[in-house]
Amino acid sequence: MERRTKTIAIANQKGGVGKTTTVVNLAAALSARRRTVLVVDLDPQAHATLGLGLEKQQGVSLYPVLLGEKPVEDVIQPTKWNNLNVIPSEVDLAGAELEFGAREDRLEMVREALRPVRESGAFDYIILDCPPSLGIVMTSSLVASDSVLIPIQAEFLAMDGLALITGSIDRIRASVNPALELNGIVFTMVNMVAKLTQDVMEEVRAHFGDKVYETAIPRNVRVSEAPSMGTPVVFLDPRSKGAESYRAFAWEFMAKNPTRFEAPRPEPAADEGKRDNTEPPLGADSPRDATVA
Ligand SMILES: Nc1ncnc2c1ncn2[C@@H]1O[C@H](COP(=O)(O)OP(=O)(O)O)[C@@H](O)[C@H]1O
Ligand SMILES: [Mg+2]
Repeated sequence: MERRTKTIAIANQKGGVGKTTTVVNLAAALSARRRTVLVVDLDPQAHATLGLGLEKQQGVSLYPVLLGEKPVEDVIQPTKWNNLNVIPSEVDLAGAELEFGAREDRLEMVREALRPVRESGAFDYIILDCPPSLGIVMTSSLVASDSVLIPIQAEFLAMDGLALITGSIDRIRASVNPALELNGIVFTMVNMVAKLTQDVMEEVRAHFGDKVYETAIPRNVRVSEAPSMGTPVVFLDPRSKGAESYRAFAWEFMAKNPTRFEAPRPEPAADEGKRDNTEPPLGADSPRDATVA
């Protein structure tokens, strides 16, 4: 059966809002549910690459693909975990803003670079980790995507930040990618006891309605420790609050973004030496384990 790949950009022009953490843990939680996932790290800081246990390596990123020097298949790297793959980042990507700025196909360059992967149907989800700016890399990532997921912190001026990025989405929809959707908004690093947090969450929900994910990710020290171990927190400490909430979020995400996944899928072959990241079967792929206390 033909499989339809969903390409989702995780974007916010602001840095430090939890984009990369969300990319890494959403991807990990999806892979544990036997979805095949490709993370594309488009931030020259390469935090998603490192967070998934890979090292930066010159020439192994989307950069040589954008230059037409390598086929995209050559830069897809497996991780230690089943179903979880990554196109790493490297410092060279930092030059892309300037180097590619004058290219006529600059808006379509990421879409074209990823086309063979998308068309292969090898992945359920391609998840793009965008750099924190409204530059050419982020814009062309949005052009390459079916939808945009926006992680935000519930803090002062959150609505202003959202207006900036949703404005970009609208402009891209009006021009190069009419099919681009707002996938949703997810609150990260939430401190539920703060009154300001509650007020901001209420305001955003009032404005964006069901585009806001029910699951909010709490601030949790295990989440911030995981990157230095090169392991997503959902694998490092599955019972931590951070891991539980990212699993719940992934469940909600899968429900809102179905692929033609049919459980049970045959066990993937050739995973010799891989760490088993798959969760135990739950009968009908149910959300029982995906509740957050
Ligand atoms: N839920 C969380 N609890 C605690 N720390 C978090 C959480 N989410 C992210 N962090 C930390 O906050 C910092 C910024 O997160 P990151 O995902 O890198 O943001 P971005 O990609 O938007 O710049 C990182 O040090 C990360 O480990
Ligand atoms: Mg980041």
